Amino acid sequence: MSAVPMSQSPVFDLAPWSQNHLARVEQALSQWVGHGAPAGLGDAMRYAVLDGGKRLRPLLVLAAYEAVCSGNSGAQSGVQATLVLDDAAIRAACAVELIHAYSLVHDDMPCMDNDVLRRGKPTVHVQFGEAPALLAGDALQAFAFELLTPDDSLIPASVQATLCRLLARAAGSAGMAGGQAIDLASVGVALTEDQLRQMHRLKTGALLQGSVLMGAVCGHAAATAYQALSDYGAAMGLAFQVVDDILDVVADSATLGKTAGKDAAADKPTYVSLLGLERAQAYAQELLVEAHAALVGSGLPDTRALAALADMVVRRSY
Ligand code: IPE
Ligand code: IPE
Ligand code: MG
Ligand code: MG
Ligand code: MG
Repeated sequence: MSAVPMSQSPVFDLAPWSQNHLARVEQALSQWVGHGAPAGLGDAMRYAVLDGGKRLRPLLVLAAYEAVCSGNSGAQSGVQATLVLDDAAIRAACAVELIHAYSLVHDDMPCMDNDVLRRGKPTVHVQFGEAPALLAGDALQAFAFELLTPDDSLIPASVQATLCRLLARAAGSAGMAGGQAIDLASVGVALTEDQLRQMHRLKTGALLQGSVLMGAVCGHAAATAYQALSDYGAAMGLAFQVVDDILDVVADSATLGKTAGKDAAADKPTYVSLLGLERAQAYAQELLVEAHAALVGSGLPDTRALAALADMVVRRSY
């Protein structure tokens, strides 16, 4: 069963790595999000972003950044240069999470999936009302791009612009928003496997792949590594939504922190409805093998955090 190449040694423990990086992300998000916003808007923004979520996308940004830096030894010189790159990476990590959080706020609204539970709390529109939820999503999206373009920054303008472009592509009509449009148009529709794959690649895969690519850009990845990380991101990103479809069926609401069983209830096409549980699980495993193979082909000396995150994506229980 284990066709996953075991190329990463020595053994890597994701837990301490994640803890350390999550602490930086939480601190930065709390410091940056929602301050100075008028009339309750900031509260809704902070409610949407803080105290919850696996933070997978920020972790992917930071893991890709570090993987690229592991292959750059000597190329970047000096503490100052490293600090500038680190600043770009933490900003990219937070920006991606802001787009993700905004997508969840809107995804849960009555005009979309009409969900009342998210990250173990009432959804933003339940807590604050629909108009504040809409505006919190709007403001989070805008703030993501503001974070990527700080005043008086030493981050090269070309890096800032590339990060903005990658995030915009991943979030827009060729990415998350486009996938969400297909999702809404597909209720009760029997999609082909190709159509379902395309919907999942856009609505969820694009932002996960974009996270990896943004990390790669922060570390100034060379072309071969960039392409390999892009392939890794595509496989892992699709696997993520296949597993989300599976968890909607096999997990309970308390574990997920969101209402289980919603896809079947809303007659959404999913990998489980199309292939059945077992084949959906096998497909997620296949994608995991693909993701690992891409890392092996990257030529980067240390991709262990990325490998462990892909494992986590497929083996997670929530
Ligand atoms: C849920 O994403 C929405 C999808 C894209 C399927 P996550 O499972 O990453 O949600 P959080 O961030 O951990 O709450
Ligand atoms: C949502 O997919 C993807 C987004 C862009 C937010 P789902 O609708 O399946 O996500 P959950 O299951 O509500 O988290
Ligand atoms: Mg949805
Ligand atoms: Mg939903
Ligand atoms: Mg889902």
